[in-house]
Amino acid sequence: MNKKTVVTCIYLFISQMTSANSVDEMFNSYQKAGVSTIKSNAGKNLWDKSFTANTSNDTRSCTNCHGSDITKAGEHARTGKRIEPMAASVNPKRFTDVKKIKEWFFRNCKWTLGRECSAQEQADILSYLNSQ
Ligand code: HEC
Repeated sequence: MNKKTVVTCIYLFISQMTSANSVDEMFNSYQKAGVSTIKSNAGKNLWDKSFTANTSNDTRSCTNCHGSDITKAGEHARTGKRIEPMAASVNPKRFTDVKKIKEWFFRNCKWTLGRECSAQEQADILSYLNSQ
């Protein structure tokens, strides 16, 4: 192996490690934000709950796009595009990128609840999705 190959291997190894720990990294940041207990039951309730306080005052839920059975694929409420299952057990690509998790929490909470989700809400939901 030449030097470049070794460096590439080390890089791949490290990025693999960090991607496997994205969920832990998220939980650490939620804890820093004051979350002391994480309840996946509460996360499931939020997931299925209908919210009306969004920008267009219709009824919206996470299930509108992702479905209630998160081991199955969802369908985007507006575009009809297929969304791969959210449950980590059937979709190992889920929750492997901190940036992606943060971006979509921001975007989807805004669309669904009309506001950002709190650290507690995100922790509960992520725990639920990651445990299924
Ligand atoms: C209008 C449709 C829509 C709604 C409603 C919606 N999502 Fe999503 N969500 C998406 C799309 C599209 C993606 C990105 C595509 C993908 O990851 O398959 C995504 C991705 C995500 C991700 C990133 C997953 C990962 O692999 O890192 C999280 C977390 C998420 N959504 C949470 C939520 C939560 C929580 C709600 C309810 C508050 C919600 N979503 C409601 C469309 C939606």
